[in-house]
Amino acid sequence: MSIAVSADQKTFYLSGGNTSYVLHIDDDGRLVNLHWGSRVADGSLSYCPSDYYGGASFDKEISRIPLDIPCCGTGWYGTPAVGVRNAHGDDVTDLRVVSFRLESGKPPLPGLPAVYTESPAEADTLIVELCDDWTGLRVDALYSVYHHSGVIARSLNIRNTGIQALSLTSVLSASVLLWESGPDLIHLKGAWARERAVIRTAAGEAEHRISSARGASGHEENPFIAVCARNTDEFSGRVWAMNLVYSGSFQAMCRTDNGGRPRLSIGLNPEVFSWKLGPGESFHSPEAVLVYSDHGLNGMSQEFHALYRTRLVRGTWRDRSRPVLINNWEGTYFSFTEERLLAIAEKAKQIGIELFVLDDGWFGVRNSDNCSLGDWTVNRNKLPSGLNGLSDKLHAMGLEFGLWFEPEMVSPDSILYRTHPDWCLHVPGRHRTEARNQLILDLSRPDVQDYIISAVSAVLSSARIDYVKWDMNRNMTEAFSEALPADRRSETQHRYILGLYRVLETVTSSFPDILFESCSGGGGRFDPGMLYYMPQTWTSDDTDAVERLKIQYGTSFVYPVSAMGAHVSAVPNHQTGRITPMRTRGEVALAGNFGFELDLSELSAEDLSEAADLVRRVKEIRDLTRTGTFWRLLSPFDGTYTAWSSVSDDQKSVLLFAYRSLSSPNSSPLRIRLAGLNPALSYRNEEDGTICHGTALMNAGLTVRLNGDFSSRVYRFSAV
Ligand code: DGJ
Repeated sequence: MSIAVSADQKTFYLSGGNTSYVLHIDDDGRLVNLHWGSRVADGSLSYCPSDYYGGASFDKEISRIPLDIPCCGTGWYGTPAVGVRNAHGDDVTDLRVVSFRLESGKPPLPGLPAVYTESPAEADTLIVELCDDWTGLRVDALYSVYHHSGVIARSLNIRNTGIQALSLTSVLSASVLLWESGPDLIHLKGAWARERAVIRTAAGEAEHRISSARGASGHEENPFIAVCARNTDEFSGRVWAMNLVYSGSFQAMCRTDNGGRPRLSIGLNPEVFSWKLGPGESFHSPEAVLVYSDHGLNGMSQEFHALYRTRLVRGTWRDRSRPVLINNWEGTYFSFTEERLLAIAEKAKQIGIELFVLDDGWFGVRNSDNCSLGDWTVNRNKLPSGLNGLSDKLHAMGLEFGLWFEPEMVSPDSILYRTHPDWCLHVPGRHRTEARNQLILDLSRPDVQDYIISAVSAVLSSARIDYVKWDMNRNMTEAFSEALPADRRSETQHRYILGLYRVLETVTSSFPDILFESCSGGGGRFDPGMLYYMPQTWTSDDTDAVERLKIQYGTSFVYPVSAMGAHVSAVPNHQTGRITPMRTRGEVALAGNFGFELDLSELSAEDLSEAADLVRRVKEIRDLTRTGTFWRLLSPFDGTYTAWSSVSDDQKSVLLFAYRSLSSPNSSPLRIRLAGLNPALSYRNEEDGTICHGTALMNAGLTVRLNGDFSSRVYRFSAV
């Protein structure tokens, strides 16, 4: 068991890998956190519980206690993990522990995505039951610890056992006080086409809050927050990170208390959430995944990657090589015919591409983004032999067939909208705000969920479809459901996400062989919630090689290479206007789920031959990039060089990717120090046959010459 309970049944040591998370029930029955950090021996913190009572001050003692489920109204002044307005109109909540139990393995969460176990031996779960006697509010706090890694997964099951309705006003899946002074804060900031830039700043005394109120996790912030010691770098030092397994609005905070200690928390965004909890009802929070590493930021990311690749992603594609694809979006946009698609496919087949993906514009009368979302019937003017005919022709050529959908949306100019104008999110009588000429279907409604399931399933059953790109191209406005009573309208955003999860669960389990890729204007919903249903995500609409270095580098803070769609597009790049060599565009995309996003028939003979070479190379290395340990070596945020690597589990195969965005005259060559090799082994550089010792590659480094703007090289090493 990864959970040890002290003899007095009051302290719980959740330990795995190098990490311990230690909880204690204090003399007043409060649940407090004694330690989250490097591993401690079971039973070794028995001297600790009195430590935090030292601060005699104007503040009540409770304001300094490291409560693990803090609540408001009795002297604790931060954001409550469980905020409740009761029938009397006050929000005083005082949770005390009433019982606990242990389970081996990890229970699934009802209707919510969550990390899982394949055998009960992989993790253990502590369930602590707390109660506020006054209202009858009960909370089951679930803490699962993975034996191998020490990753903690937390969630709350909040129950109303009283006789009057309660209103949940705040739900944080995790809120932990850390014993670290003056740390740095890290989050992933962005915008459309600039997703997940790494922001690192001193946490200082300020209160930091990142959030989304958009109804999606969003381009602007990712549901991820971390703090690290000031001297932590990619390779060493302490870091504590939280990631919410959720695809909707969220908040994450780092607040330093007046005792100088930071509290890190993550959960639902109370600006757009409250929930009526009637007598006998329960509410399950999304899950927070907590990773601690004392091996720097790479150590943190590698824990997330391993867990998400093997115990978040599910289904037949979890452990399979992903096909090399070509997507027609940037090649043709809406302007295509079957003939043009087949011409692109012909060239694609010639250079070894395996999957042809038909993007937006195949349905209704859609020739621009101003109509037809919701009318999922094939446009016979563009595709006279239908999806079935196109799919058969592609399969006859030896290609698989993939299809784009945007099922959560409706165009006002559509048969669906004219038939069901009440099916979108809106406030009766108010203007309905459009974005990209579309409205959002009200997925909080079971009838709308059922419609989407049947409309998508009908198309997927109508032709041989091997891949689906599930897109979502706007954020919520007037985010209220007409189908909910007034006192439940503020539940709409969360109910939408629960409805979306029901739709995704039903569709993906009905078509288990289809490879699903999620998308939201690129990476506007790149989160673990979506990865639970769909093993990969379109990382960004920005396909410029230089910009992609930053986007993929930032994304790798949490998400594995196997989750990132990465395509080669035409130049000048459609987002930045930049012209980069085909080889560099390819070598950036090689570090992801590789594909093309252009019209191959427009390439020069030289570029087409380079493209063919890239396809040959990706097939050789894709299993290693998908399953290997990913190391960030040089950051594009720190200078003109970027480098990262993949190292196989047995440490015998290594890929080093090196990039230079801008050259400068008279500069020295670069030495890149590799990481994660076996120091007892020697490696052959497959480029030139030279043999280098593992210690030399890691400690002295490989001399890399990159000449010219936008240059790149990929090195392969094999143990000899
Ligand atoms: C946004 C996606 O990110 C693009 O790749 C493309 O599918 C368009 N939507 C189509 O409308």
